[in-house]
Amino acid sequence: MDVKEAIEKRRAYRSFEPVEITDEMLKELGTAAQLMCSCNNNQPWRFVFVRSKEMLFKMREAFNKGNAWAFEDSLIIAVFGKKEKDCNIQEREYYLFDIGLASAAIILRATEMGLVAHPIAGYLPEKAKEILGIPAENMLITLINVAKKSDKINPVMSEKQIAQENERPLRRKLEEIYSVDVFSAELDK
Ligand SMILES: Cc1cc2nc3c(=O)[nH]c(=O)nc-3n(C[C@H](O)[C@H](O)[C@H](O)COP(=O)(O)O)c2cc1C
Repeated sequence: MDVKEAIEKRRAYRSFEPVEITDEMLKELGTAAQLMCSCNNNQPWRFVFVRSKEMLFKMREAFNKGNAWAFEDSLIIAVFGKKEKDCNIQEREYYLFDIGLASAAIILRATEMGLVAHPIAGYLPEKAKEILGIPAENMLITLINVAKKSDKINPVMSEKQIAQENERPLRRKLEEIYSVDVFSAELDK
């Protein structure tokens, strides 16, 4: 699979079936993050790969109600970091950007490996950090839920979530996301 295909195939699916997560797979995903660019090569990204049945079960406590579909995941990647571990240039705090880049690499590599990697913001960060033992001063930026895609719709999903399973949510037009040479009013929409 080339990058273009991985970009096109990636979807935030919510109907999961289990997949065995091997040490080799974790290494592949970790390496995808390791090689990403970062400001001053600061590499501010940190991850806890949650793989055991027991810990996956405990993490359910931290999910928002609307994310109960994620109870079926085989791996949770807790993505976190600290502002002080990356460039801070006036008001530009690069850690979120750099950790986002590394997360994108993980998500695309997971897609190439035939997995679904679905990031979420709907969780209780303090609870999740407590369960995983992540020190409080870290920002828990997302939980990436990993599994295989199932063709059977998970019954806990809402109508909207079911619709999104079958069709990619609409995207902004290209004119609304980039202009050439100078800023265009379309970008302000
Ligand atoms: C930072 C972030 C937070 C998200 N939070 C949630 C979430 O809490 N629950 C959920 O079901 N999906 C969540 N998503 C998935 C988005 O809804 C999804 O990516 C978007 O609708 C586009 O669909 P697609 O990824 O399949 O193209 C999140 C995605 C990102 C990047």
